[in-house]
Amino acid sequence: MTSVVFAISDGNLASDLTGILRELGDYEVRGQATTTDQARDLVARVQPEVLFVHEEIGPQPLHQTVRDLSAGYPDTSVLVISGARTSGKVIKALEAGARGVVAHPFAYEDVSSNASTARQWSEAIRATRKGIARVVSQRGSVVTVAGSKGGVGTTTIATHLALDYLAEKPDGRVCLVDADVEKGDVGAILEARQGVSIADVAKVADDMTAQTVNDALIHHETGIRLLLAPADVRAAEYVTPVALRAIVTVLREEFDLVVLDAGGHVSPTQAAAVEAADEVLIVTTADVMAVRAMRLRIQAWESLGVRHEAECKVLVN
Ligand SMILES: Nc1ncnc2c1ncn2[C@@H]1O[C@H](COP(=O)(O)OP(=O)(O)OP(=O)(O)O)[C@@H](O)[C@H]1O
Ligand SMILES: [Mg+2]
Repeated sequence: MTSVVFAISDGNLASDLTGILRELGDYEVRGQATTTDQARDLVARVQPEVLFVHEEIGPQPLHQTVRDLSAGYPDTSVLVISGARTSGKVIKALEAGARGVVAHPFAYEDVSSNASTARQWSEAIRATRKGIARVVSQRGSVVTVAGSKGGVGTTTIATHLALDYLAEKPDGRVCLVDADVEKGDVGAILEARQGVSIADVAKVADDMTAQTVNDALIHHETGIRLLLAPADVRAAEYVTPVALRAIVTVLREEFDLVVLDAGGHVSPTQAAAVEAADEVLIVTTADVMAVRAMRLRIQAWESLGVRHEAECKVLVN
């Protein structure tokens, strides 16, 4: 049943419309407001799929009311009822946000087609909003761990981050990605055997599905999933920034937490990993060289528009 609300002060007009909607079936009139103020309250309460507004409703101007209600309740379709449906009136109503103008005296076909279009619009908006809500709620977090230089403990920290999350949330879905593609050592640290790598997934980046990415993941005995760096350094070139972004997008849908080991060396892949992350952790040691390297790195990210300094966390290892 499509829920319908009237903003009509004329009793005869309301009962004529009720009669036609009843004949059409599938429409349920959930209330009638006789002033614009009542209409606002009623729409807020019922949030109907379709609202019929008579052009003579007051005291507030018709188009202001239509504008406010269609903006405030985007999945309620507004139909204006007009005694003389001139093109000027139709344009004004549509500009205010109405979905159509129904002529009065009513014609069965006219009410039927307008109501049906309005209902379809409302259903489409509702479905889209539900879909968006689902996508948003499913998005996992992406944390990129990058080193100020090589050897500062980036891989150790990234690995422990993934393991600690799982220790705290044993049902959590965690993926550790070795995005240090030229010299990745996540596999070595976790003693994971090399199967397919991130490069194999990157090769099909243009045509990637969740299945492609899932097939490349290693189920590690700790419970985390691993996407390893390629064993052959020549394959690293497949992991372009575009491919890495596509991989992260898929993983975000599948996991609660995605940790990227972005390595300690300046590269476009590292910048892409930093850009794609919700949180960036820069690992450094406390020596002057490492801290200086870190500052230069952050400045580079800032000037490339990849990341602001204030958005990076620093971990002194
Ligand atoms: N907090 C720590 N406590 C003890 N050992 C650590 C710690 N952090 C790093 N290490 C050790 O330091 C070594 C280098 O660490 P790791 O491989 O994590 O560094 P990295 O920055 O990833 O290096 P690379 O640039 O080679 O990728 C490893 O042997 C690791 O076990
Ligand atoms: Mg490393």
